[in-house]
Amino acid sequence: MADKIAVLPGDGIGPEVMDEALKVLHKTEEKFSFKLEIEKGLIGGAAIDATGHPLPEETQKLALGSDAVLLGSIGGPKWDNLAPELTPELGGLLALRKLLSLYINLRPAVVYEELKESSPLSPKVLSGKVDLLTVRELAHGIYFGQPKKLTDEEAFDTMIYTREQVEQIAHVAFRQAKMRRGKVTSVDKANVLSSSKLWRKVVIEVAKDYPEVTLEHMYVDNAAMQLMLNPLQFDVILTSNLFGDILSDESAAICGSLGMLPSASLGAEISLYEPAGGSAPDIAGQGKANPIAQILSLAMMLETSFEKVEAATAIRKAVDKVIADGHRTGDIAKAGDEIISTSSMGDLICSFI
Ligand code: NAD
Ligand code: IPM
Ligand code: MN
Repeated sequence: MADKIAVLPGDGIGPEVMDEALKVLHKTEEKFSFKLEIEKGLIGGAAIDATGHPLPEETQKLALGSDAVLLGSIGGPKWDNLAPELTPELGGLLALRKLLSLYINLRPAVVYEELKESSPLSPKVLSGKVDLLTVRELAHGIYFGQPKKLTDEEAFDTMIYTREQVEQIAHVAFRQAKMRRGKVTSVDKANVLSSSKLWRKVVIEVAKDYPEVTLEHMYVDNAAMQLMLNPLQFDVILTSNLFGDILSDESAAICGSLGMLPSASLGAEISLYEPAGGSAPDIAGQGKANPIAQILSLAMMLETSFEKVEAATAIRKAVDKVIADGHRTGDIAKAGDEIISTSSMGDLICSFI
């Protein structure tokens, strides 16, 4: 039986960039003689509009019955004021991550040589090749900690980490660092937060299993600044759910656009591949979105869930080629560049596979 993927395009630019990723998938299937069974499902605002729920039971069954899930993006102003558990964010995406027990989120950020001019950072800061990986804890922390409360008078969230949760994600970061340049920067707020004090203690203990990896600690406020001042110092950034969310958007900006940042959410058997960015309501429906983050998320899926390393490499090389040849969607264009549409970018990437 063919391996099966659930395709959840979602909202805003999600369906637009997903169309391009599917084009690229089909081209890759032809070229490398394999076939994935694809079934589409509803999530987020699109699911609310059709069924009243951001993660309908049908979508849950679909995800659980698939070998991997490819997600576009969810959310938008139309659904912002619903009860928290019924929003595309909490009731859709976070519920899906929880359903699949995904506690690892890998967000690789690479600055392409030819895109350095699209980065807000100066050539002096980008004197070498930025290639960093955020390893973000995805299933716990302040996103999920109980109790939570929201009334008009008082609201709170709870940031909890247990030793076991920190150990799990720390091992992932150290293993990644061993395959990369051998450095982990653990980012926390251990000067203030109890959950961070435990985080730091446990990370130091886990590091003993990886003598070949250098461990450094950084407070999150300084880390946000250091990313701007000297991103070259980072190899693997290990951090909690909320800090990883924030710092990974920052890492995307260094690369020139959130539209360049793919991600893989892993943990149990079924993994989820999702661009780091959102539904981009400001450009949705206009053919302006950059599909590269979605296409690189597809490459991560082919490699990680289906061991199609050659196919993933071909996709990455095709992306390298469009960038090297100067093809630009608006988000990565500089003054004077010709701007191409979402679908032209997808077509060009296909043509190089
Ligand atoms: P966003 O990531 O949607 O957009 C931030 C900025 O980045 C916008 O200017 C947008 O145009 C740009 N951008 C993002 N992806 C792009 C792409 N592929 N090509 C070109 N430009 C791109 O964040 P936001 O505006 O803060 O949030 C909008 C909605 O998306 C919210 O409902 C939010 O909750 C949701 N969201 C969803 C996800 C997800 O589905 N994984 C992630 C982040 C935000
Ligand atoms: C992301 C997004 C999500 C997150 C939201 C939409 C729930 O910002 O994937 O980065 O905070 O994890
Ligand atoms: Mn985010």
